[in-house]
Amino acid sequence: MNDHDSEKMAGILRSFGLRAAESEQDADIILLNTCSIREKAAHKIFTRLGQLRSLKAQRPQMILGVCGCVAQQEQEQIFTRAPYVDIVMGPRRIGSLPDLIEESRQRRHALAVFDPRDALVPELDLVHRLSRTRAYVTVMEGCNKTCTYCIVPFTRGREVCRPQEAILAEVRRCIDDGMVEIELLGQNVNAWRHDTWDFARLLAAVAEVPGVLRTRFTTSHPLHFRDPIIDAMASHESICHHLHLPVQSGSDAVLERMRRGYTVSEYRGRVERLRQRIPDISLSTDIIVGFPGETEADFARTLDLVSEMRFETVFSFIYSPRPYTPAAEYQDDVKLEEKKDRLRRLQVIQDSIRMEIVRELEGSTVEVLVDGPAARGQGRVGGRTEQNYLVNLEGDPALVGQLVQVRIERAGPHSLTGSLETGLTSSVLRNIDRVVHSTGIRSHHGAEP
Ligand code: 5AD
Ligand code: SF4
Repeated sequence: MNDHDSEKMAGILRSFGLRAAESEQDADIILLNTCSIREKAAHKIFTRLGQLRSLKAQRPQMILGVCGCVAQQEQEQIFTRAPYVDIVMGPRRIGSLPDLIEESRQRRHALAVFDPRDALVPELDLVHRLSRTRAYVTVMEGCNKTCTYCIVPFTRGREVCRPQEAILAEVRRCIDDGMVEIELLGQNVNAWRHDTWDFARLLAAVAEVPGVLRTRFTTSHPLHFRDPIIDAMASHESICHHLHLPVQSGSDAVLERMRRGYTVSEYRGRVERLRQRIPDISLSTDIIVGFPGETEADFARTLDLVSEMRFETVFSFIYSPRPYTPAAEYQDDVKLEEKKDRLRRLQVIQDSIRMEIVRELEGSTVEVLVDGPAARGQGRVGGRTEQNYLVNLEGDPALVGQLVQVRIERAGPHSLTGSLETGLTSSVLRNIDRVVHSTGIRSHHGAEP
């Protein structure tokens, strides 16, 4: 979500004729887009500001801004702690960036943070997307949940949904610009609704936009992950068989104190239903270890759940008390050493599960959407499978944006290596299918010549 907010800021700046600087020494404006989900992330920003302080002293005309959730959380206190900062801008105030720059040029501290009266999501069509293939599209801002550990409802405010017309128009613009994959973004994406539309209907409508080869969405909440969404996923070829469904803990007692609103068996039930309908679905999840009151027995239940679920990826975190959250009042009673040990044990189990899953892919042929040059190696490109595995292969950059069939030769913990199957790319095959379908020609099933 922060990456996409940065794309929005870059889009606004570019619309004023600015362009990316080669280095921070050359920059006229430096904006730090920040995250405050855990204390460590929030802390980093002050270290970074300390490093930029001398640059600002050498070049006082340079504008330095703090954006994102730390800006919203700390507000004016950022100016108190770091008076050389010019701009503080919360995540719901990105549209104010031009005014803030103007204000700061008059040598004033410029502040724009979220006000609960700002009920609207600004319609920003000035997005500078970094990927050539995948476009993030915001469907809603904010979160109305009250998970007791989470600062997001405070920093990003209450939920506001964009109208479907605006979302679909943005999707069409992305396709016209050459994108082929759409990722719908919302803090609690499947709670999206507008007029008579719910998220399942929106998802289906996006998947049906001509030219969309892949549709993804994140982040889903288990409580709102209802059957119509599963139906939409099962019945639309372009919706990827991958789902990020944060469980947070395998213990009902902990889930209750987190106020997540579901039990482990309800979570399990959702996943079972999903796997019945979409057997090749891959799941990822988020888990917090060392939440206040988490006993060794609670943690053992989390380990059991992870072994049972066989997630593709587990994003695991040590609990970090956050200001303005109910859990900050709980006694943070699990010792740091114990938290670290639990994190390590969880990661050891998950790493071996992941290796088992990816090894099973060796020797198989998978469909990959090529999204750019591979991180390492000349003449190589990389992309993702529908299940979100990263695959590197030898190939020409002209393949970027194409769906190709790749035979997997080797599976590593972070990526797979394979080679291109010869023949038509899946993109071409899908287009042929579409033309055949729309012109009414039926040939391959032999009904008519
Ligand atoms: N401490 C640790 N992890 C947290 N997350 C959210 N708040 C906290 C916190 N206070 C994790 C959750 C969430 C992910 C984005 O970050 O697992 O799903
Ligand atoms: Fe935070 Fe819970 Fe909202 Fe996710 S659903 S952003 S964890 S409050």
